[in-house]
Amino acid sequence: MQKRVFQKYLILCLTFLCLSDLSALKSKNKNKSKCVLPRNLAREIDSYKPILKDIKNMTTNGFFHGLTFNELATFVNKFSSRISGSKTLERSIDYMLEKSKNMSFDNVHGEEVMVPRWIRGKESVKLLKPLVKNIPMLGLGYSVGTPQKGITAKAVVVRSFSDLILRANEIPGRIVVFNQEYVNYNETVKYRSQGAIEAAKFGAVAVLIRSITPSLEYIPHTGMMDYNVNVTKIPAACITVSDAQYLNKLADEDKEIIINLKMNAKTYPNVKSRNVIAEITGLIKPENVVVISGHIDNWDVGQGAMDDGGGAFISWSALALLKYLGLKPKRTIRTILWTAEEFGLIGSSHYINIHKLKEPNLQFVMESDAGTFTPLGLQVSGTNLVKCIIERIFSLLKPEVNFEINDKAEGPDIDSWINSGVPGASLWNANEKYFWYHHTKADTIDLENPEDLDKGTALFASVAYVLADINIDLPRNKLVIKERI
Ligand SMILES: *[C@@H]1O[C@H](CO)[C@@H](O)[C@H](O)[C@H]1NC(C)=O
Ligand SMILES: *[C@@H]1O[C@H](CO)[C@@H](O)[C@H](O)[C@H]1NC(C)=O
Ligand SMILES: *[C@@H]1O[C@H](CO)[C@@H](O)[C@H](O)[C@H]1NC(C)=O
Ligand SMILES: *[C@@H]1O[C@H](CO)[C@@H](O)[C@H](O)[C@H]1NC(C)=O
Ligand SMILES: *[C@@H]1O[C@H](CO)[C@@H](O)[C@H](O)[C@H]1NC(C)=O
Ligand SMILES: [Zn+2]
Repeated sequence: MQKRVFQKYLILCLTFLCLSDLSALKSKNKNKSKCVLPRNLAREIDSYKPILKDIKNMTTNGFFHGLTFNELATFVNKFSSRISGSKTLERSIDYMLEKSKNMSFDNVHGEEVMVPRWIRGKESVKLLKPLVKNIPMLGLGYSVGTPQKGITAKAVVVRSFSDLILRANEIPGRIVVFNQEYVNYNETVKYRSQGAIEAAKFGAVAVLIRSITPSLEYIPHTGMMDYNVNVTKIPAACITVSDAQYLNKLADEDKEIIINLKMNAKTYPNVKSRNVIAEITGLIKPENVVVISGHIDNWDVGQGAMDDGGGAFISWSALALLKYLGLKPKRTIRTILWTAEEFGLIGSSHYINIHKLKEPNLQFVMESDAGTFTPLGLQVSGTNLVKCIIERIFSLLKPEVNFEINDKAEGPDIDSWINSGVPGASLWNANEKYFWYHHTKADTIDLENPEDLDKGTALFASVAYVLADINIDLPRNKLVIKERI
């Protein structure tokens, strides 16, 4: 071995392996992580065990046991319909600001941002031929309305965008019904967001889209849609899976289908809203920040208990819990309740843009916006070192809770931070049924479970506290896409 190479090896060995905590490597468990942290760092993380024990105990036996659920229930019952642009949303923001001041959080304030104001108005779908039947529906956010008498037209049922193209000559003047299969949300949501654009290109007068859900429950799901400046804006609504399949069956039987669609939907000029900010200011490096977040707005149907009341409240309660325990981390922990997420990440995009210069100060960002069912751990975007630190934090919560790390944070509001290299995470939870109730009248407090919310609160509080207090500044995650544990 060349002398210089050997020296390099020795230095490498000294800085990593020789000083490392090797217990993980010794394990016989094949699934055991490959994490090898520098020994001093491992020791430092382990020193937080008593504090994490207090956090855990406080949510299982102490004052915070059941608190997140109770606060969430009070909130969603008081402010059920917190749609962007509404007075109710603003009153719910006032309420959270007041609660935050009551908790004596630091730097409590609302940060203004202009948000869309779309109002659904009266709406209906009526099947006129081959038989008369009212069809439950929900207009889509940003959709234009119909004339007062509605639009009455023959319907063409298609199963995909390629199906639409094949039948292009049948489309002019028709209502297009999309009866696409549900693959997964990410894949299938394009029918809701792009359906009106694609159908309008071929001259359709309106679209009815099968709700984006794996569930067969007889409820329509709403959500946001897009228009394109180059094609006519046509009204768009979702119908139930069952009715989309029924219309498809009628079409397969060569029945002539005639539908009347009425929508009074209107978009008004943007109005002021606010992102809610509350924090525990750091003692040593106050300008360095760990963010925990969820969005405060929801749709105008249901209570938005799941999307995203649960995420907002574990983020708020986690801060309250740390405050209650009198903990003062070195860095700042900031809870942000984003506004107008449902209309296209309006609050978070604005916040992230206007605070761009402070982005290098972000230590870690977290979001919960995919349900607060039984927490399984975190989906993390970051270098191996970041993942290993979090895994070490999780190991301190055992044996009562067994959190694990999953790949890649998926939080719509924090996505642009993650993409520009800020390490971050989203709550990983047993959310198989999330899209059953997403954006429906069934998204109510009954879907939430007190113990699950306690666990989510404890998870956010534990990770936020340790990462805010630990000596190391976390590395950026430029390589996040290629890197895996
Ligand atoms: C290892 O992980 C796989 C996949 O997550 C799991 O199915 C298996 O049960 C695990 N085995 C052990 C010993 O934990
Ligand atoms: C857990 O919390 C309860 C209630 O606050 C307290 O009485 C008890 O001493 C705590 N237990 C531990 C082990 O800290
Ligand atoms: C804040 O505290 C005041 C005084 O205790 C109380 O009247 C008010 O209801 C609290 N506000 C909220 C939103 O909890
Ligand atoms: C979501 O779907 C789009 C296009 O359908 C794809 O490019 C993207 O990689 C998908 N993302 C995930 C997380 O599955
Ligand atoms: C609209 O059409 C113009 C001209 O063909 C094109 O440059 C532009 O990209 C189109 N816009 C969208 C959103 O498709
Ligand atoms: Zn959401």
